[in-house]
Amino acid sequence: MRNIVLIGFMGCGKTTVGIRLSYRLRRAMEDTDKLIEREEGRSISEIFRTDGEAFFRELETKCLKKLIPTAKNMIISVGGGLPVREENHALLKELGTVVYLRANAETIYERTKHDTSRPLLQGGDPQGKIRTLLDARKDIYENAADIFIDVDGKDFDTILDEIIEAAAG
Ligand code: S3P
Repeated sequence: MRNIVLIGFMGCGKTTVGIRLSYRLRRAMEDTDKLIEREEGRSISEIFRTDGEAFFRELETKCLKKLIPTAKNMIISVGGGLPVREENHALLKELGTVVYLRANAETIYERTKHDTSRPLLQGGDPQGKIRTLLDARKDIYENAADIFIDVDGKDFDTILDEIIEAAAG
C-alpha cells in the first residue's frame, strides 16, 4: 500500500486527520515537524529563532529524503510550508499519494487563533498573515497534490471517509 501524505496550510487539520486516519486504517503515522523536532532536539519555534526559516526548509527537504526509502504503508503529515519548495514536489509524489486538505482563511484562523507554536503567524494581524500566505500558496498546494479534500464545515469522520474513498479505497 502506498503511503498517504497529507499537505495543506497550518491549521487545516493535517495532524488530527492523520492520527484518526492511522487508527482507522491501522497504519503508523509520522509528521515531518515532529521528526525534525526529535532529530534537532528543539522546537520549530526555536529552530526559526536561532537558525532562521531557510535553515528549517533545508531540514524539511532532508527529512523527506530520509522518509522516502524507509516509510511504507504509512500516513505522513508534512509542515504547511514544505510544498512551497519546488524540489519537494517530486519528493512528495515519490513518498506517496499526496492529499491536500483545502481550508479557507476563516477556518484556518479559527483553528490557529490561540496557537503560539507557529512562528509565521506570530507578531500581530494573524488574519492578514493567513490571507497573504494562503493566497501565495493556494496554487502550490494544488500543483503538489494528487487529491483535494475540502475541509471547511465538515466533521472529521466525513473528511476521513472522503480520503479513504479517494486514496485508499
Ligand atoms: C509552517 C507550518 C508549520 C511548521 C512551521 C512552518 C508553514 O507546520 O512547519 O511553523 O510554513 O506553513 P503545520 O502546518 O503543521 O502547522
